[in-house]
Amino acid sequence: MELLKQRIREEGHVLGDKVLKVDSFLNHQIDPVLMMEVGEEFARRFADAGVTKILTIESSGIAAAMTAALKMDVKVVFARKKKSALMNEEVYMTKVHSFTKNETNEVTVLKKFLGANEKVLIIDDFLANGEAAMGLAHLVEQAGSEVVGIGIVIEKAFQDGGKRLRQHGFKVESLARIAAFTDGQVQFVEECVQ
Ligand code: G4P
Ligand code: NA
Ligand code: NA
Repeated sequence: MELLKQRIREEGHVLGDKVLKVDSFLNHQIDPVLMMEVGEEFARRFADAGVTKILTIESSGIAAAMTAALKMDVKVVFARKKKSALMNEEVYMTKVHSFTKNETNEVTVLKKFLGANEKVLIIDDFLANGEAAMGLAHLVEQAGSEVVGIGIVIEKAFQDGGKRLRQHGFKVESLARIAAFTDGQVQFVEECVQ
């Protein structure tokens, strides 16, 4: 998605050799016009998937999930990271470990918002090691529903999450794929030789 790549080039800050800061339009301040374009692009890429529900995880996945849901005319559910005070029977729960933050969260979704026989599109802002997306897929499986796709705003293709998810058989669509950060510059996958 050229517009997104342009915004990453113009506003992204590379921290060290692994982390991209994009808090001017995605992770802190949100640009609603760009997010509408992102949602429309997800809707195009998953137009034939028969999506009946979108699932994301709080907090930064919500904006892109919401605009995609608006365009696809389905509801969006965000899994919660804070331990729920609710009874266990009322929620599906899975553990998601973040290597970036070195913490494990118990991620939950109320059963009443993730039923059986749904065709679920998972959306998230970043794909690194794939732990969050795998956790969300696990919640969908517990519910007796099907993951029909995974939509990612920014994939760090030099980490192994994308490979893991695709090897698992999921259709993964990432709107910007980063091959590397070289001397503080973002190299997108398409721009690399080989
Ligand atoms: P994984 O799910 O793919 O395994 O990713 P990981 O645990 O490494 O990521 C943990 C958190 O860090 C996630 O946000 C993820 O979106 C974010 N993240 C990973 N790499 C980058 C990066 O290069 N830049 C930015 N800006 N974020 C990155 P989170 O903890 O779920 O927080 P939230 O922002 O959604 O609230
Ligand atoms: Na994030
Ligand atoms: Na996220």
